[in-house]
Amino acid sequence: MKILVIGSGGREHALVWKLSQSQNVKKIFCAPGNGGISKLAECIPFKADDIPALAEFCIKERIDFTVVGPEVPLCAGIVDELSKCGLDVFGPNKAAAQMEGSKVFSKQIMAKYKVPTAAFEIFDDPDKAKKYIDRINAPCVVKADGLAAGKGVVVAQNPDEAKQAVVAMMEERIFGAAGDRIIIEDCLQGQEASILVFTDSREVIPLASSQDHKRVFDNDRGPNTGGMGAYSPAPIVTRPIFQEILEKIVYRTIEGLMKEGITYKGVLYAGVMLTPQGPKALEFNVRFGDPETQAILPRLKSDLLEVMMATSNQNLSQIVKSGGLKWDNRACACVVCASGGYPGDYQKDKEISGLEDAAKINDTMVFHAGTRLVAGKFLTAGGRVLGVTGLGRTIKDAVNKAYLAVDKIHFEGMHFRKDIGAKAIK
Ligand code: AMP
Ligand code: GLY
Repeated sequence: MKILVIGSGGREHALVWKLSQSQNVKKIFCAPGNGGISKLAECIPFKADDIPALAEFCIKERIDFTVVGPEVPLCAGIVDELSKCGLDVFGPNKAAAQMEGSKVFSKQIMAKYKVPTAAFEIFDDPDKAKKYIDRINAPCVVKADGLAAGKGVVVAQNPDEAKQAVVAMMEERIFGAAGDRIIIEDCLQGQEASILVFTDSREVIPLASSQDHKRVFDNDRGPNTGGMGAYSPAPIVTRPIFQEILEKIVYRTIEGLMKEGITYKGVLYAGVMLTPQGPKALEFNVRFGDPETQAILPRLKSDLLEVMMATSNQNLSQIVKSGGLKWDNRACACVVCASGGYPGDYQKDKEISGLEDAAKINDTMVFHAGTRLVAGKFLTAGGRVLGVTGLGRTIKDAVNKAYLAVDKIHFEGMHFRKDIGAKAIK
């Protein structure tokens, strides 16, 4: 089969890598891909959200199955458009993708179907939002309704910070229309976990649990990033907690969407806070997590293409009947190496050295994110550059493996967190 993967990050490198192991895959294209992906797939120079060009390419190349990585094309309706052309594609349609595309929509679904989440109010008027903040006079979380490249959430320690966020989003419109409506919600305390499931709306098959590291510096300090590392499994998600998350958060959401006339097909990612009052949903994403995917897929023994196709064909019950997904019992950890300056303005075009030495260490993999291959050399081309991943008997072993490989790699300005997995090891 001919496969197209859409996207260019570490997540997409992991998807391409895993799909390339599938017996039925003959050729993989990736749009636009990156330096590392170009070793496994033919990279084609279309942007991930250029839906007309991608549809034309799929028809011309007779692509059998398309996998959409990022949220932007999903929220723009790429699945609807490709399906209209008679193409098979993995991911939720536009209506279902609102679970990530609109935080207002997502919170309203949660409220209506009794999914535990932080108490919230919706505002389309900045003055009313500011008055509300004065009234509650406590830490709160301000969220832009629409997509904001992962920057649309401000956890405000005091009313001033919260009001500044309201001004930035609603008056200065730093996210454009995405900030015309906002959510203000209670600040939750606890550890976070990422729970990803495959669902075709009839069946739900969970992936292994994982945990991300959002802040740029060790001990969860500094600004938020797309994610500086991840590990799987997350030991804090014990079996009973996992079950509770599935029952109260995941099933209720998918069933609620069904009642709204929305059939969700794809990966649903629940960002969960494990609070003293039980797990609460922080957000939903309608795609694989990045860098969670780089820590989950190396543990997956089952054929990824088969599960994805079953998801799209609403045939996941077949996968369940044949015993569900098979997992490697080992743990996996991913350490993200980022460019100097990231998550602010960052440097580019730095030569990356040591990748060959890193590749010699067994049970490690280097997933590329912001890289490009020029005349045989890998150069940095983004904020998050590499996801250096290790497998081991325990999380500690996996983390040690990953850092062993990180030690071989260098580029000017490279920085990474030195405490990936520390919470789990403690
Ligand atoms: P979201 O995109 O909604 O997941 O928000 C991004 C990050 O902001 C989350 O991963 C949390 O770290 C934090 N966050 C979001 N909502 C809350 C909340 N209600 N309480 C505390 N932290 C939150
Ligand atoms: N790692 C967080 C995300 O993928 O949104």
